[in-house]
Amino acid sequence: MKITMIGTGYVGLVSGTCFAHWGNDVICVDKNAAKIAGLNQGILPIYEPELDGLVSKYHQAGRLSFTCDLAAAVKDADIVFIAVGTPARAGHGDADLSFVYMAAKEIAPHLAEGAVVVVKSTVPVGTGDAVDKIIGSVRRRGSYSVASNPEFLREGAAIPDFLKPDRVVIGVEDMHAQTVLMQLYRDVFAPHDVPVVVTRRRTSELIKYAANAFLATKITFMNELADLCELAGSDISDLALGIGLDRRIGSCFLNAGPGYGGSCFPKDTLALLRTAQDYGVALRVVEETVTANEARKRKMALKVLDAVGGDVDGLTIAVLGLTFKPDTDDMREAPSVPLIETLQRFGATIRAFDPVGMPNAAQMLDDVALIDDPYECARNADAVVIVTEWDCIRRLDLTRLRKRMNAPVLVDLRNAVSQESAEAAGFRITMIGKPTRNHKETQPVLQGRGARGRLHTGNDEKAGTAGRSRL
Ligand code: UGA
Repeated sequence: MKITMIGTGYVGLVSGTCFAHWGNDVICVDKNAAKIAGLNQGILPIYEPELDGLVSKYHQAGRLSFTCDLAAAVKDADIVFIAVGTPARAGHGDADLSFVYMAAKEIAPHLAEGAVVVVKSTVPVGTGDAVDKIIGSVRRRGSYSVASNPEFLREGAAIPDFLKPDRVVIGVEDMHAQTVLMQLYRDVFAPHDVPVVVTRRRTSELIKYAANAFLATKITFMNELADLCELAGSDISDLALGIGLDRRIGSCFLNAGPGYGGSCFPKDTLALLRTAQDYGVALRVVEETVTANEARKRKMALKVLDAVGGDVDGLTIAVLGLTFKPDTDDMREAPSVPLIETLQRFGATIRAFDPVGMPNAAQMLDDVALIDDPYECARNADAVVIVTEWDCIRRLDLTRLRKRMNAPVLVDLRNAVSQESAEAAGFRITMIGKPTRNHKETQPVLQGRGARGRLHTGNDEKAGTAGRSRL
């Protein structure tokens, strides 16, 4: 099939590349000439594992091209995807749809007869109707279709998420669009049993927001329970294991941390609330999720204060991990930013390390020494704070780290390292959702491998073995 992708952001570039991987001819269009020139030379505007190899492979094979010439890119396309950004409108919280509408207006005169225009950007309910209206003002009704096909890929895992999704959602208002989109996805997904949900356009649009809001709520639920665990003498990791094995709950997205960030959950939860307001519906659970997450990000600085004895004034704090999650260079809504700003306001000097995110971090953070080695970053620090669970941070040699520091204080906001190894290295460690020292002192000492959230099977017990851990 001939596919045109409008927008070469995360969704556009990854989807376009994966469609080429499946054998389609793909043209990616962007107004940013520098970005297109870079892509034509194999320079990617984002960091995403595996993406550069696939882009250069299919670019060289002639199946994936990049251009600013929208008219030429659209004229022969069977499917035109709109994958432009829908940022939150400043001070409003609702999605700014101007790029989507502009794209619809610009492609309309050039569409081939029978072309299917598919909105892949995350857009509020009714956007497809508006796009339909814009195109319908210059094209004969019935000569084109408008569909919705939201994207569920995660940054950092975008390629595997796109190639093997849990499901595909298609929102259509006519049989032609359904047939074309099923043709696009059926052959690649049928052998892998990937379900395709076909629904009306307005439902498809809402599915995307509902999914993100649900996941944001799931994380926030665990974050609040982590606070309870700390005071009640319980362990959030074991709790996650214990509830996650219930298939109705599921074990994914139960990791408590410093609060969710990124370009999607914060923006999409707010946009969903705006939509609900427009329809006079109260989404109280989502409202609470948004409020609790914002408060949590700010509260993380207090954890650091507690760990160093109440005052960071004049202290040097080393922050390890800056991006909103690992395997991305994205700093949008990263919990590291409010944490660092708050610690600075309290008088701390900040040194920071991130394996990939430092160029972007440099644009957002003032007065932070960015150091490209985690051990050097910790040199003479009074505390180390782990904010993003990059693999290289999980695997740090904690004894080596400790030796460079002024004081043995480690605050691990992602439970990225093991408490035992941190303590063996001489650290006083503060984690998320773990019993506080008071509780540890008053609790009986648990003996045996089974005492720490190990998963035993019936057979293990019968055989009298200690069981295998899935932690
Ligand atoms: C999210 C969704 O997961 C994707 O399905 C969706 O397509 C995407 O938004 C989007 O709308 O474009 P993404 O923002 O890339 O993907 O990253 P996630 O892996 O979902 O993480 C979001 C935030 O939640 C991060 O700050 C992460 O650290 C945090 N998180 C995630 C937790 O704190 N705990 C968890 O268990 C999982």
